[in-house]
Amino acid sequence: MKLHLTHQSILRYVFILSIGISLMLFSDYLGFFEGIDHYIYDLSFRVRGPLETDKRIIIAAIDEKTLDALGRWPIRRASYARLIEAVEEAKVVGIDIIMAERSDDDAVLDTAMKKHGRAVLPVYIESQLNISYPSKTLASAKTGHIHVEQGIDGVIRKVFHTLSYRDTILPSFTSVIYELSDNTAGNRQRTADMSDGIAAPRTILQLDPMNINYFGPPGTFQHVSLTDVINGKYPQSFFHDKIILAGVTSPGLEEKMLTPFTQHRDRMAGVEVHANILNNLIARNAMHAVHDPLRWIITVIVSLFCFFLFVQLDERKATLLWTVSLVLITVSVFILFSVIRIWAGPAIMYIALTFMFLTAHVVRLEEMGNLLSIANDEWYRTFNDINDAIIVHDCDFNIVRSNKAAEEIRQTGLFQEITMKCREQFMEGHNRAFSALPHTEPVSPSTMEMFDAERNRYLEVLTIPRLDNQNRMTGVIQIIRDITERKQAEEAIRTSKEHLRNLTAYIQKVSEIERTNIAREIHDELGQALTVLKIDLSWIRKRLPYDQIPMIEKIDAMVKIIDRTIMTVKKISTDLRPGLLDDLGLSAAIEWQAEEFEKRTGIPCRLIIDPKDITFDKDRNTALFRILQETLTNIARHAEATEVDISLQKKDGQIELNVQDNGRGISEAELTSPQSFGLMGLRERAIMFGGSTVIHGVPGRGTTMTVKIPAEQRKDDP
Ligand SMILES: Nc1ncnc2c1ncn2[C@@H]1O[C@H](COP(=O)(O)OP(=O)(O)O)[C@@H](O)[C@H]1O
Ligand SMILES: [Mg+2]
Repeated sequence: MKLHLTHQSILRYVFILSIGISLMLFSDYLGFFEGIDHYIYDLSFRVRGPLETDKRIIIAAIDEKTLDALGRWPIRRASYARLIEAVEEAKVVGIDIIMAERSDDDAVLDTAMKKHGRAVLPVYIESQLNISYPSKTLASAKTGHIHVEQGIDGVIRKVFHTLSYRDTILPSFTSVIYELSDNTAGNRQRTADMSDGIAAPRTILQLDPMNINYFGPPGTFQHVSLTDVINGKYPQSFFHDKIILAGVTSPGLEEKMLTPFTQHRDRMAGVEVHANILNNLIARNAMHAVHDPLRWIITVIVSLFCFFLFVQLDERKATLLWTVSLVLITVSVFILFSVIRIWAGPAIMYIALTFMFLTAHVVRLEEMGNLLSIANDEWYRTFNDINDAIIVHDCDFNIVRSNKAAEEIRQTGLFQEITMKCREQFMEGHNRAFSALPHTEPVSPSTMEMFDAERNRYLEVLTIPRLDNQNRMTGVIQIIRDITERKQAEEAIRTSKEHLRNLTAYIQKVSEIERTNIAREIHDELGQALTVLKIDLSWIRKRLPYDQIPMIEKIDAMVKIIDRTIMTVKKISTDLRPGLLDDLGLSAAIEWQAEEFEKRTGIPCRLIIDPKDITFDKDRNTALFRILQETLTNIARHAEATEVDISLQKKDGQIELNVQDNGRGISEAELTSPQSFGLMGLRERAIMFGGSTVIHGVPGRGTTMTVKIPAEQRKDDP
């Protein structure tokens, strides 16, 4: 889908996005999404699995066995002295046991520590910010704090290697051990107050943070039982250059810790947590978290880019992209985590992308809504622009919608009538809603014409059933069209046609009367005169003397001319109107006409007349005779025929005249040509009696002409 955003809507979306992004970043800053990040962080550890630990680190565990051997807790400090002696060659010995109170055997331990030189004891920070150092009687020990940072979920992920309280600096237990083992001094941050002497805050400052990169679940580090060490089970050389961490592993003595690997069960002993931290220091493989500003910048860039894509893509592709990007982010975060030990909490990215996806969805929805309303407006305008009245009825025949053109019609009384008729047509006596009608064959659209007497208009009503997808009627659509103009034009054509027809009939009739009159006049008057002339000439010839040869010859020639003229007069007279037709009837006239045709053209002519002496009234006889005459003339002039069949029959009250030739066949163009006046006259003659004409030509086969007219006189005949 192509979006057409206006400037205004773009500004609005930019505003919404800015607010949304700011809110998300602020929430992230407040730590709202920490839970998700922690979960994924811990999960990454478990998915990644354990790492190879440093074999120099050995945990001397105060386990069940040790407690059994050395008596109940707390173990005497002399035992720790024996431990230090037993691991003489170890590089560093860290004892993760708080020894804040004095004990009578402190001196033994202190001596052992002094002798070894690299023994470390823990400093513990109590809840009221009381720092409890080891007892003064153990002054030979190096010290370091054992504080580790718990997340809100109680899981330990972080340690601060330097704590600063007032003017005291407290290095961490593990960093002290690391510095001793490496003979270096760590690169510690120094607090502000220490450099410029300003009064220190009353809280502990946490410096040198480090994210613990756990090597695995509890038990990953090498363990030996403390009692075994004391009892010399391992040779001195075993501990050469090793780092010994002594601490409680036996359950119940000390609260164990939650780590990403342990997750609510199988907690890790404090000493092992320290082993992990120490190994991080040695291997320099602590986790590094991406700084928040960088994370936020990347989030903003990626999510804006994705927003752009989401808006461009269609719904399915956008959803796919959203899902894929969530997966990709998770995978990349894990790869960064496990390969280069960089942690970037993805929660903000998930939330931002989801926000973008939803916002893009809303943008698309809104845009579609706009398009829809534009389309709807356009539709409605078009609906109203239509000149025909359109009225949509529901299943109870209530009007649901109608256009502008319908307004006027709906006011008229005729509209009620139209609706009633439609109702009758579809309901067939059911006085119920359409939808309640029995399920029948779908009704097809229908048209009817109505006359609006009120407004003097003709209307055409088209009724179209509305069907639901089960083919049940849910109403009807009426389209009412004003056809007054069309009706008037049709009427005008009809009357003009009638006038023309009447005129033709009149002309034909008049011409027939004229012909008859002229024929009679010529025959009677001219014939008479010529006969008298001929008789007179004979009279003169008889009275001439015999020797007047030239005169006699002249008179004979004149008589011959008169004879020929009489023949011509007769011919002209019959051609104008054969007297036969009036005297002997139609069949005689036709027979004579056929003979004449044969004589004149040499084309044989078969004739069937049934019944033999068929004849009708004068008008029909004339019409049929003239039709035959015209047809035969056409055959002679155009057909190139060698045979003609004529039949005249009367059956079932119909006269049927059929003329068939075997010529070239009349073409469709010739039949419909406006120049074919002969054929036109022929048809008109048939129509005058309420009859019909069919002319049909087959190329190369000939032409057939059939005229049928009713034999009986009807009232409206001419
Ligand atoms: N029997 C026929 N066979 C072939 N062509 C015909 C036949 N009768 C009529 N036609 C064709 O139809 C045309 C129209 O006929 P008609 O109206 O009588 O006009 P006209 O005879 O004056 O040419 C003729 O010009 C001719 O080409
Ligand atoms: Mg003709």
